[in-house]
Amino acid sequence: MKPSHLSPPTLPTGAASEADQAFRALLAALRAAPEPVSGETLAASLGISRAAVWKRLQRLKAWGYEIAGEPRQGYRLLAVPDRPLPFEVLEGLATRRFRGPVHYHPRLPSTNDLAKEMGRQGAPEGTLVVADGQEAGRGRLGRQWVSPEGVGLYVSLILRPPLPPSELPQITLTVAVAAAQALERVAQIAPGIKWPNDLLLGGRKLGGILTELETEAERIRYLVVGMGLNVNTPGFPGELADTATSLWLATGRRHSRVALLRAWLEELEALYEQFLHRQFPVILRAWKRRSVTLGKPARVRQGEREVAGVAVDVAPDGALLLRTGAGQLVRVTSGELAPDPVTGPGVD
Ligand code: BTN
Repeated sequence: MKPSHLSPPTLPTGAASEADQAFRALLAALRAAPEPVSGETLAASLGISRAAVWKRLQRLKAWGYEIAGEPRQGYRLLAVPDRPLPFEVLEGLATRRFRGPVHYHPRLPSTNDLAKEMGRQGAPEGTLVVADGQEAGRGRLGRQWVSPEGVGLYVSLILRPPLPPSELPQITLTVAVAAAQALERVAQIAPGIKWPNDLLLGGRKLGGILTELETEAERIRYLVVGMGLNVNTPGFPGELADTATSLWLATGRRHSRVALLRAWLEELEALYEQFLHRQFPVILRAWKRRSVTLGKPARVRQGEREVAGVAVDVAPDGALLLRTGAGQLVRVTSGELAPDPVTGPGVD
C-alpha cells in the first residue's frame, strides 16, 4: 500500500462516471495483453491520445498499480493494489443488482454518513461507499468503530427494499449471514454470529454491521448497510486488544479486502433476492447454524431496562426470544447483548 500522500487529488468517483470507464478500459486492455503493449497500441484501441494514455498510467501508479515499461517498449501490468477502488471491486464481480456506482475515498469521517447523504439525494440501490480508513467510524449504539487506514474494510451499501421498516430485523440478520458466508468462502474460516449481526472468531469481534434507515409513509425510503471488517489489522488499542481480532491475527496470513468485498456483495445479493421473494426462513436457518447466542444465557440492555434469561430462539420476524427465569418469553428487537460466561466478552 502506498502512503496516502501519494494518492492523487482527483479520485475515482464511481463506476458510472466517464473517467472511471476510461480507467477500466485501460486496465482491461493491460490485463488482456499477453505481452507488453505499446502506448501507441493502447491509444489506438481506446481512441485516445498517447499523452492521455501516459497520464492515466501515472494516475494508476499513484493508486498503487505496478506497471512496468516505457511508451516504446510497451507496458505491462505487474500487480494490482488491494485497495477497494471501483475498478478493482467491479473486476469480475458476479452481481446484477449490486454493481455500484462505487464511491471510493482514501479517508472519510464515516462511509455510513456519506451513504446516508447520498441516499437522501436519491442514489440508486447498489450504490457503494468505500473508504481506506475512517476518522469517525461509527458502531452500533453510538460506539466508535476503530478504522485504521489500509488494513480494514469499511463499506456502506444503499438498499431500497420496497418494504415496511418492521422488516428491518430480518434484513439485519440477512446481512450478517452474507458476511459470514463471504468470510467462509474467501478466508476459509467459520465466524460465529452474535445476535443480531456481530461477527466473532474465538469469542472476539472480527466485524460488525450498522444498518441505518430513513422511512416515508410506513415504507423504507432507503437503507444504509455499513460493514466494518478487521482484515489485516495488526493490533488494537486499549481495551479492544482483549476483545477484538482481525483475520490476520486469527489466521496468520494477509487477506484481500477487495476479494472479501466482492464476495460479500455476491453473497448478499443472492440472499437479498431470496429475502425479497419471501424466503427469509431459509436465511434464518443459515443464521441459526452460525449463532453463538442461541441456547446460552443472555442479558439484553434496552436503555435503562435489562432483561435476563436464556436465548431460546429467533422468531420468524427476526426478533430474539429470551426465556426469563420466571418462565416468561420476551421478544427483543433491539438493544445490546451483554457479555456472558460462554460466548466471552461483548465487544460492541
Ligand atoms: C458494530 O458496532 O458492530 C457495527 C460496526 C459498523 C462499522 C462500519 S465501518 C463502515 C460503516 N461506516 C461506519 O461509520 N460504520 C460502519
